Amino acid sequence: MNVGALVLAAGKGTRMHADIPKVLQPLLGEPMLYYVLHALTEAGKLPVWAVIGHAADAVRRVFPAYGECFILQEPQLGTGDAVRVALPHIRQSGVNAIIVVNGDCPLLSGSLLKEFLQKMVCSQAAVGLATLFLEDPGSYGRIIRDGDGKIQKIVECKDFDPVLHGCGSGEINAGLYYFSLRELDGLLPRLTNANRSGEFYLTDCIALAAQAGMRVEAVNFGAQKALMGVNTPVELAEAETVLRDEINRRWLERGVRLHLPQLVTIGPRARIEPGVSVSGPSEILGDTLLKTGCCIESHCVVRNVEIGEKSIIHSFSHLEDARIGKGCVVGPYARMRPASRMEDGAKIGNFVEMKKAVLRQGAKASHLTYLGDADIGARANIGAGTITCNYDGKNKYQTYIGEDAFVGSNTALVAPVTVGSRALIGAGSVITKDVPDNTLAITRAPQKMFARKKSGEPNG
Ligand code: UD1
Ligand code: CA
Repeated sequence: MNVGALVLAAGKGTRMHADIPKVLQPLLGEPMLYYVLHALTEAGKLPVWAVIGHAADAVRRVFPAYGECFILQEPQLGTGDAVRVALPHIRQSGVNAIIVVNGDCPLLSGSLLKEFLQKMVCSQAAVGLATLFLEDPGSYGRIIRDGDGKIQKIVECKDFDPVLHGCGSGEINAGLYYFSLRELDGLLPRLTNANRSGEFYLTDCIALAAQAGMRVEAVNFGAQKALMGVNTPVELAEAETVLRDEINRRWLERGVRLHLPQLVTIGPRARIEPGVSVSGPSEILGDTLLKTGCCIESHCVVRNVEIGEKSIIHSFSHLEDARIGKGCVVGPYARMRPASRMEDGAKIGNFVEMKKAVLRQGAKASHLTYLGDADIGARANIGAGTITCNYDGKNKYQTYIGEDAFVGSNTALVAPVTVGSRALIGAGSVITKDVPDNTLAITRAPQKMFARKKSGEPNG
């Protein structure tokens, strides 16, 4: 059996009340669709397609590597219509069966998908589906079986009527299906939209298949959260909590210390070495690497950052797309914006902001400083209140500061400008010209002093 996978991700997700499509809603910093695609990758080497529609361009932008796999469904006329639109693309590829999965199942795992697929192939099913038993069937489609326990049909929540369909067994449709393509070809054209939603339901294929005497197999996964569908902000928050707990437990077991783990958010792509410590509330997101012995205090947001051994990130620091070497000190209240880099032993203190800037080995900016488009030499000391004036309203310019330079407090470095090695800048200077090596530069006006008038006498 040559099996592919199709993800249904074209819906708007109206119940989410958001501008972005539901499958882009973030959980632990990654869009919902990331988790479904990742589970499919873990399940094996299946060719994957995804039907997209609502805000399709935005979805494509977020997943550039999947360009060829996206199929446009426009307009979105229901889950059955989504599969109908995808079928010609899939047929061309030579697969003869597909797993279909809703794109709003972020808790899905590769092992569950493998188990489902194996059962489908072993049972030689023509059509199959995963079901759950839930105390509260909520908005899921209800499974109706006949007296012999054979699956008869799925009745969508909106169309469910206890008078017609009985009180319900609690068994629901989890939104994971298996179809042999040959059978699916015959089923899809027979779907109608004669239902409360006016949509073509994929779930009606089950009744059509059962009526036609096809082999319909269901795998019941009990009450597993892994198949939970996310339709509302409440469900999104629940799913995120489940993911957070799973991921945090994994890191704890591998020797990472998490203080207040329920308040630590670690994204699924982050890598953390044993011996790292993270205090909540904090967020460790994206493609972040925390090396052994490094410590993230509370109230930090760290996204796409590599942090070297034994570096300390003090509280309330915000770091994004940055690299920090070994033994560095950051914050409290520091900000590293994209393309910032600190080499080993460098330090930035409170209210220091870096953007596209590098602090070379052992360089320090301890207080109240903006370093944008700047290259700060090894061991240089940047005094409190230093600003690299990198923007003239149109263009950005570079500041270079040499090794062992000392920049006095409250200095404005008007870029483009170079300060040489071992140069010394007097406090309060506005530096507009290059300063050679080993030179003192100072632009301060000399201090003048006048006797103060007695109190009560007019000034001037
Ligand atoms: C669906 C099932 C329901 C099941 C539940 C499991 C149908 C009709 N109902 O209901 O039986 O219990 O999932 O979670 O399938 N989509 C498209 N194109 C469309 C419409 C939807 O791609 O035209 C996508 C959505 O983006 C979503 C998925 O299909 O990822 C399911 O759609 P959704 O509206 O969430 O279906 P449910 O009402 O949850
Ligand atoms: Ca859903």
